[in-house]
Amino acid sequence: MAYQIKKAAVIGSGVMGSGIAAHLANIGIPVLLLDIVPNKLTEDEEKKGLTLEHKAVRNRMVSGSIQKLLKQKPAPLTSKKNLALIEAGNLEDDLEKLKDADWIIEVIVENLDVKKGLYEKIDAVRKPGTIVTSNTSGISIDAMAEGRSEDFQKHFLGTHFFNPPRYLKLLEVIPAKTTSTEVIEFMTSFGEDRLGKGVVLAKDTPNFIANRIGTYGLLVTLREMEKRGYTVGEVDSVTGTLIGRPKSATFRTLDVVGLDTFMHVAKNVYDKTEGEEQEVFELPEFMKKMIDNGWIGAKAKQGFFVKKGKEIFEID
Ligand code: NAI
Repeated sequence: MAYQIKKAAVIGSGVMGSGIAAHLANIGIPVLLLDIVPNKLTEDEEKKGLTLEHKAVRNRMVSGSIQKLLKQKPAPLTSKKNLALIEAGNLEDDLEKLKDADWIIEVIVENLDVKKGLYEKIDAVRKPGTIVTSNTSGISIDAMAEGRSEDFQKHFLGTHFFNPPRYLKLLEVIPAKTTSTEVIEFMTSFGEDRLGKGVVLAKDTPNFIANRIGTYGLLVTLREMEKRGYTVGEVDSVTGTLIGRPKSATFRTLDVVGLDTFMHVAKNVYDKTEGEEQEVFELPEFMKKMIDNGWIGAKAKQGFFVKKGKEIFEID
């Protein structure tokens, strides 16, 4: 079967979903962007003078509002007019519209059960032959495919984008045991030729390649920092611009990724390891406290470097 992506659907309009939708719009692919967070205010909320941002912060989530794409930094869209290619909607009301998509990308919270619940709904409405991928940071692709129809399993795999999707070139492609060779080949060449990414094929092991070593490196850094009494500013300076990286470093990266998401990603390996290997993947206490307080980074406007709505990146 020859695959073609004329229309895509992205489910989850948070940090990554909105960026992936923008990346697709930038290359001329129309996208349906769905979330469970209503992208409209209720009458009552409007009367109270609430904004979508209030609502999103209160829910500890990023609003489904596509208008946010214009404000996000670094800019996810190459031009404002690309926004017209993105149709935002609500998962519950617009589920049937997934029938029109040739590629459905799941970009929701890093939790196996929640993701599986969504795949069940997708499986019931998608047209046969539709490619379904997950942007998971490291949950087992095989576990996510379990229990789905044969056609779904044949067309299901991991496509792991990096943050921010417009700028970072890496795309990990992670086949499930059931993914057909044609689909793997198609996604690899589509990733390179159309999405403009450098594709690395990874095995379905906890956190694949990039996050297996990346999460490890970051957590070891945090432990050494605590042990030796280095400050957040010191660590960020020597792992950031001063060492030649463009902008973000240890803590700025955590602000951009989202501390809640990082917690889930560390847990992906923690749950699958033991002893000394496992210990590294335990979050330090100060980070657990920040998450309890809702200080989860840029999306909550409070993290290590983001404070009181100040943006951490300059407009490009
Ligand atoms: P996020 O917290 O910014 O956004 C998640 C979105 O999913 C929210 O808007 C939420 O309302 C929505 N959602 C939650 N449950 C849902 C459901 N059942 N149906 C529909 N929508 C639902 O999370 P983020 O950071 O965008 O992460 C999404 C996925 O991408 C995760 O699997 C994460 O591990 C992965 N990822 C995250 C990266 C990052 O830097 N933040 C980088 C690469 C991958």
